[in-house]
Amino acid sequence: MTITLALSKGRIFDDSMPLLKAAGIEVLEDPEQSRKLILGTSRPDVRVVLVRASDVPTYVQYGGADLGVAGHDILLEHGGQGLYQPLDLGIARCRLSVAVRADFDYAAAVKQGSRIRVATKYTQCARDHFADKGVHVDLIKLYGSMELAPLTGLADAIVDLVSTGNTLKANGLVEVEQIMPISARLIVNQAALKLKREALRALIDAFEGATAARTLRAS
Ligand code: PRP
Repeated sequence: MTITLALSKGRIFDDSMPLLKAAGIEVLEDPEQSRKLILGTSRPDVRVVLVRASDVPTYVQYGGADLGVAGHDILLEHGGQGLYQPLDLGIARCRLSVAVRADFDYAAAVKQGSRIRVATKYTQCARDHFADKGVHVDLIKLYGSMELAPLTGLADAIVDLVSTGNTLKANGLVEVEQIMPISARLIVNQAALKLKREALRALIDAFEGATAARTLRAS
């Protein structure tokens, strides 16, 4: 019985490696060096598939993967249907924020009953956030380089992930509101959890142990 784990390249992949190690699993190839999309591991019954971050919940939901690691932002946009979410892994931490040009008066723009144009990849989160504030929002869906939107006049503001803040700074934008902290979650296909219960439980427990140990070290 093979266990398939969906990961996305970059921080999620890198931050997941110590967790896998704690479960006694080493990934045999470096995704930055290879163009392969299926990576073997030191356990013949475990493989890793590399997918776009926003596709991880879809793979797990439909059983293309048994489990995966996905950012909370991605899960909120996806909706989380059909997914068991046993664990906040506390990795790939950042925040979802509103940012504007340094010369834009955000406080005036979000007075109750006003209207603002917002460009974002995270339309669901942005819609909810501005609805809570009683602000009418015209959403413009983008797939990347959101920082450009306020600079070119496409939008007044963006809703995007901020980690170090360097990208905003480099583009003359300022973070005016933090919507929520973000970290990556473990997600599991519910049918797989029944069919491959023992193997998946062992993995979830190992991830949980490694996450708890890291939290303890950090405190
Ligand atoms: C995110 C986000 C910003 C950047 C912020 O992009 O969209 O562009 O990171 O990081 P910083 O605050 O440390 O500068 P990511 O690299 O995740 O890729 P994406 O553009 O595909 O979302």
